[in-house]
Amino acid sequence: MTRSFAPPSRRVLADCVRAAIAAPSLHNSQPWMFRITGPAVEVRADPARRLAAADPAGREQLISVGAAILNLRLALRRAGYRIEVHLLPDPADPDFAARAVAVHPAPADELTTSLAAAIPHRHTNRDEFARVPVPAAALARLRDAAAKEDATLTVSDPSVVAELARSADRRLRSQDDYRRELLRWTGPEARHDGVPGWAAGSAPMFGPHTTIMVLATDGDTPLDWLRAGQALQRVLLTATLLGLATTPISQPVEVPAVRAALLGGSAGACPQMVLRVGYGRVCGRSPRRALDEVLQPEGD
Ligand SMILES: Cc1cc2nc3c(=O)[nH]c(=O)nc-3n(C[C@H](O)[C@H](O)[C@H](O)COP(=O)(O)O)c2cc1C
Repeated sequence: MTRSFAPPSRRVLADCVRAAIAAPSLHNSQPWMFRITGPAVEVRADPARRLAAADPAGREQLISVGAAILNLRLALRRAGYRIEVHLLPDPADPDFAARAVAVHPAPADELTTSLAAAIPHRHTNRDEFARVPVPAAALARLRDAAAKEDATLTVSDPSVVAELARSADRRLRSQDDYRRELLRWTGPEARHDGVPGWAAGSAPMFGPHTTIMVLATDGDTPLDWLRAGQALQRVLLTATLLGLATTPISQPVEVPAVRAALLGGSAGACPQMVLRVGYGRVCGRSPRRALDEVLQPEGD
């Protein structure tokens, strides 16, 4: 029998949604919607914000939504609740990504508190990184973070990945719809979504001193994509705690033939994201849409 408890207020849950939307997303598309029902937060993928050219299957959308789910989990735990999370709870409704329910008051452990505190500090850094290698112990912490969310993270040869990335870029940019979509999301107009010009960076992503890692899952279903997103975000927040800068790089995974060549084509591993990791200067935060644009009003 579950004893009754005072459930978190709507204001506490709305603060947790605020933490969720600090997550990274493909081109800062912020492709999510939230609803608060009693002690639960429901997370949905917003079909209007799926990037048809870069992400026809919606894989990167669910990776982005998965990253938001990890933030939501950490924020709910930090708010003092044990939680239950159901991924894809309604098979008839594939955009219904998750339902996270506060089930009992429980203090958060130290790691959860630190990762939650890192949420507002994590950001994508596309600038040059210092020519300082990332210590093996830090790489091990990142690998452990991925493993905790059922994913693997493998160090790859930057020159090999650079060649694959160039080939992916050539193929993608040869498509009109891809170029149009890229311009829509990275163009110059000031908005509350998309990648602003100042965040674009100009550093070569795969220099000889760069650490490149590939995040992979065993399967390649929508559930695996949500897991990959949660793993990505746990890795990024762990990197933030370790003082490391990060850049997710998705183009090599967007072209099937290039994706298959990442990780040397190891059987059973499905690459989901390339990650550049190193030491960089702190740079600014990209904009986010207002909470009332993504959180359905009470009673809806
Ligand atoms: C699925 C996914 C794919 C991404 N792909 C790239 C990429 O190829 N290149 C890049 O510079 N950033 C990429 N990013 C980072 C986003 O552009 C970034 O998260 C977004 O602009 C918000 O900025 P922030 O991470 O600083 O909060 C990706 C992020 C996600 C979640």
